[in-house]
Amino acid sequence: MRTQIVAGNWKMNKNLDETEILLSELSAKLPDSTAEVIVAPTFVNLASTVRQLQNSVIQVAAQNMHFAENGAYTGEISADMLLNIGVEIVILGHSERRAYFGEDDALLAKKVNTALDKNMRIIFCFGEELEERKSGNHFSVVESQLKNALFHLDQSQWNNIILAYEPVWAIGTGETASPEQAQEMHAFIRKTIKDAYNDEVAEGVAILYGGSVKPNNAAEIFSKPDVDGGLIGGASLKCDDFTAIVEAI
Ligand code: 13P
Repeated sequence: MRTQIVAGNWKMNKNLDETEILLSELSAKLPDSTAEVIVAPTFVNLASTVRQLQNSVIQVAAQNMHFAENGAYTGEISADMLLNIGVEIVILGHSERRAYFGEDDALLAKKVNTALDKNMRIIFCFGEELEERKSGNHFSVVESQLKNALFHLDQSQWNNIILAYEPVWAIGTGETASPEQAQEMHAFIRKTIKDAYNDEVAEGVAILYGGSVKPNNAAEIFSKPDVDGGLIGGASLKCDDFTAIVEAI
């Protein structure tokens, strides 16, 4: 069976005090879970988060990183800096990075290469915009996002890839893809990977759904055979909601 994963992308939310409070609450209340649980606080709070979660099963991810080893990239963070503080997972390709910071497939392919060279695990996000779905192009958009950023990888490198399908129209809007829409796309993603690689890669990779996952819709979405968990935004900022979503899996 594939690993099931629930990850919380905190985005630009929670200062240090708030981060410590939410982590304590989560540590106390998270149910025993066979799923992996990951939180991704903002960069400035990553080191303290790793320390606070030292004896916890909750893992820590960064929300982004630069592709270069080091150097004159003001405001950026390298893979080595993350590894040095104990962060071994990174979210790449989030639609907010693509939309507001101009990250395209070519740049993401470089980031992916760097993260994998450093033996980090990647939660790779992708998904279509509303217009692309309305015009029936959602499958081809998703296929090209995957192809351009990931299909140059060797089979063995896929062991460190977690996919997160996040339709842009469902992020932070309260509008969720229906469980059927999620399953349809996840099955398409798996088939696309199978065609490019083989069954082993396609069946082995975890594909998370992201986009307005809440306690009241998580169980149904997670029940779909090709949905292996969720990448949660807003609902990951409240202990009760995030805990309920982990329980749903
Ligand atoms: P919401 O759960 O707030 O829609 O955000 C989803 C997301 O972008 C996770 O990365």
